[in-house]
Amino acid sequence: MAKHLITSALPYANGPIHFGHIAGAYLPADIYNRFLRQKGEEVIYICGTDEYGVAITINAEKAGVPYKEYVDKNHALIKAFFDKLNIRFDHFSRTTIPEHAALAQEFFLALHEKGHIKPAVEAQFFCVTCNRFLADRYVSGTCPKCGAANVRGDECTKCGEWLDPSKIVNPSCKVCGKTPEIRQTTQYFLDLKAFAPRLKEWLESKKDWKPNVKNKALSLIEEGLVERAITRDISWGVPVPLEEAKGKVLYVWFDAPIGYISATMEWAKLAGKPEAWKDWWLDKDTKLVHFIGKDNIIFHTIVWPAMLMGQDKQYIIPDNVPGNEFYNLEGRQFSKSDGWYIDTEDFFSKYGVDALRYAIASNGPETSDSQFTWEDFQGRNNELADSLGNLVNRCFSFMKKNFEGKIPAIASELTAEDKALLDSFAPAFDEVGKSYSAYRVRQAVSQAMALGHAANKYVNDTAPWKLRKTDLARCGTVLNVASRAIISVAILMYPVIPDTALKILEKAGLKPDGKAPEFKPFAGDLNNMPLGADDTLLFAKIMDDQIKLEVEKLKASEKPA
Ligand code: 2FM
Ligand code: ZN
Repeated sequence: MAKHLITSALPYANGPIHFGHIAGAYLPADIYNRFLRQKGEEVIYICGTDEYGVAITINAEKAGVPYKEYVDKNHALIKAFFDKLNIRFDHFSRTTIPEHAALAQEFFLALHEKGHIKPAVEAQFFCVTCNRFLADRYVSGTCPKCGAANVRGDECTKCGEWLDPSKIVNPSCKVCGKTPEIRQTTQYFLDLKAFAPRLKEWLESKKDWKPNVKNKALSLIEEGLVERAITRDISWGVPVPLEEAKGKVLYVWFDAPIGYISATMEWAKLAGKPEAWKDWWLDKDTKLVHFIGKDNIIFHTIVWPAMLMGQDKQYIIPDNVPGNEFYNLEGRQFSKSDGWYIDTEDFFSKYGVDALRYAIASNGPETSDSQFTWEDFQGRNNELADSLGNLVNRCFSFMKKNFEGKIPAIASELTAEDKALLDSFAPAFDEVGKSYSAYRVRQAVSQAMALGHAANKYVNDTAPWKLRKTDLARCGTVLNVASRAIISVAILMYPVIPDTALKILEKAGLKPDGKAPEFKPFAGDLNNMPLGADDTLLFAKIMDDQIKLEVEKLKASEKPA
């Protein structure tokens, strides 16, 4: 049986992350991880903060805070946010741990020894006023590929092109605004071309990848892979491990993915089995799956696999890279600095975590960009309140009142209606399971909720509140069947709304004890099982005037362009 090593893109320790990030790389991975555990698979889920790079140094300098202090604070902030959202990593590490630098240097040296990394003198912008080379985002200007203005030096935010910072048109220094001059400096280049045939063969063998990811990677190879500078003249980063390269550090995109391995090493060490990381990274039975946003495709499908292929150790390469599109907020990118954001603390205090997880999961950017709108959120929340919350509440409180707080026993012969609902569980588990396995969370949610709708219809049609007066035995049978359906929906939805699912199981009297329920229709005996004590409602409906206020608040916080 395969083992599964799941990762989510390491977020930059550069300020809070938002729902857009969650929708792209974290919630889909958390759902996949939880589902695999329900299936009894062996799996670890690894992540951590990406703590080097110019995006971070610029902001730390702006804030007047030492780099380490800056990333320490953001690491803690991001970790707390994931905890709040119930994103359950096995380990959440950081790229500033010593093991990480050592491993990144080992990667560099292995590639260097084989001749895949070579030095070359290159032209780079140098700011005379600031007295430094302008690496990556220290320079901004016009994209040489698509012509968009004000893009950053390393990556065009408009066309997504990975840029050579010296090629930017109309350059200016990000710090002082002056026009930089060109100077020569030696950098080290990774020869990606040498890996092109192997990369192509590997990519072409992937039949079940998302077409957007596979096609993007293959078209990059088709266009021709060029040598990329993987070192920088800045002080914050992993030192280049060569005597002649003193003062240079590794480019953040070279060291970052190595963080997946160093984080696993740290996880193993903390578990008291320091060699255990090898059972994952050096074992061909491991299925490595990287969850990322579409802006990270090139690094995870070209650069990183090439880096792995060029090592002496027999590292595994990714089995799949489910890349998602972008998730916006009411038609624009989430941006705290532009005032276009949601105050997450306020959000969770009002609406809870599972309503958000459900809203994102059922409308995630799986194949095209999607967005959070307050109106959509209201609809999704109220759907949960109506289809799931209300179903649970009316059945369970009815049993509490009329059946001494127990799920009544099946006391009459099953009708065709009962059998039809009971017989629909197994195929529902089958199809929802297939959807989760194929990273189709939207589809999984709608299939799981279809069972919820069927259960609602069953309860409406059989009307146990009427049967109570006319046929108590039949009334008990109906509630027993309905309870079994509710339990099945909770198990199917556990990956998406884990807290709510466990609460439902507790309400039903099953005592899940915080553990993931097995992914199969519940087969235990429900006859006369005492219901749990908890009577609280699962979801509150959100009214129109509340949503109006939220939209007004968002518009009021928007800063003028
Ligand atoms: O785009 C980003 O936010 C990067 N910090 C992702 C890094 S993913 C991995 F390679 F570490
Ligand atoms: Zn300057």
